[in-house]
Amino acid sequence: MSHNILVTGASGYLGGTLLARWEKSSLPPYGHLYALVRSDEQAQAVKKYGAEPLQCDIHDHENLKKAIIDKEISIVFFLIDSFTDQHQPPIIEALAEVKAKTGNEVHFVHTGGAKHFSRHAGIHRDEPLLDTDPEIYDILKTSVSPHDYFQQTTRTNISVIDVCQKHGVRGYIFAPCIVYGRGEGFGNQVSIQDVAIVKAAVKARRVYKVDTDNPTWPVCHLIDNTNLYLQMARNMLLSRDMGYNKNGFYLAASGSVYWNDLYASMAVALAKRNRVDDATVAQADDAALVTMGEALGVPASLVPVMLGGKCMFTAVNGNQIGWKAQYPPKHILEAADEEVELILGSLDEK
Ligand SMILES: NC(=O)c1ccc[n+]([C@@H]2O[C@H](COP(=O)([O-])OP(=O)(O)OC[C@H]3O[C@@H](n4cnc5c(N)ncnc54)[C@H](OP(=O)(O)O)[C@@H]3O)[C@@H](O)[C@H]2O)c1
Repeated sequence: MSHNILVTGASGYLGGTLLARWEKSSLPPYGHLYALVRSDEQAQAVKKYGAEPLQCDIHDHENLKKAIIDKEISIVFFLIDSFTDQHQPPIIEALAEVKAKTGNEVHFVHTGGAKHFSRHAGIHRDEPLLDTDPEIYDILKTSVSPHDYFQQTTRTNISVIDVCQKHGVRGYIFAPCIVYGRGEGFGNQVSIQDVAIVKAAVKARRVYKVDTDNPTWPVCHLIDNTNLYLQMARNMLLSRDMGYNKNGFYLAASGSVYWNDLYASMAVALAKRNRVDDATVAQADDAALVTMGEALGVPASLVPVMLGGKCMFTAVNGNQIGWKAQYPPKHILEAADEEVELILGSLDEK
């Protein structure tokens, strides 16, 4: 039986680009493609990508469940809330009902983030942590974040897997990292972590590094990130075996870069546009962290979580299912000037 698919976050940076690339990606045949939206304007916008709008707020669990069951949706890409686990269980339960009704295999892709596998999450490693590591579920489950508020994010990944397992749904944890490149959807065009670097620097008039060691973080061009979602969809539509639940962690990354190199490239681009007073990077002191926190709307103690830290998470699973990144990690440094231009344009517009 053919699959019906639901893409959420259709007006977002990642979800919008996924939708925009969907039709061009020559996927195997499927039934219907639905896009979750919450306004009439968004409902109109998704139609140009060949998607049927499913207009519903993610908080309206009852109607969302009913829509998934009535429309016999068997694949859901969840790209809305990586933080809490309040919306995923009802969707997973609805998928289980579709499986019982149709006999179709059902799939739930939760979008988390590389941060959940970093030292911000209490995972301290010097060696790579492969996304195929058979211990990864247990590593996540037992990790204790030094930041109280952050503990929920790792719990969310575990909870998605547990609920999927309980209901016979194939669950996947898709982890985007530092994603860059212009969004191709009709809504948000810019990312998160590199935007935080720019926002903080513009307010502080200087790019500051927030770690005292020289840590690395995985990076991925938006198109590579999108292609991993699409490759997962392709494998589901072809009923190809790929790891799920406790073996279903997928980092979208071509490799890693040093934050300090990224800061340096962005500092040059910001100085060129007179948005910082110095083209070099300085170590953040307490006063700088307070100013950066004001720009980001977080207390000073959380600034390093927004734009720094060490993450040894390493992508292997994607390559095993036929995905290959086109952009090497150093491309983000070469593209920093263009990225800063894009981010400043978007911030100035807002
Ligand atoms: N971008 C990255 O580099 C990155 C990295 C790691 C993890 N992530 C995670 O991936 C997810 C998607 O990221 P993104 O960059 O695409 O975020 P984004 O551009 O902010 O998009 C968020 C999407 O969620 C939708 N949404 C929010 N609240 C909703 C609600 N109540 N009902 C229905 N839809 C709702 C938004 O719709 P509206 O337009 O209607 O608000 C929008 O389509 C996030 O959870 C993010 O934390 C992103």
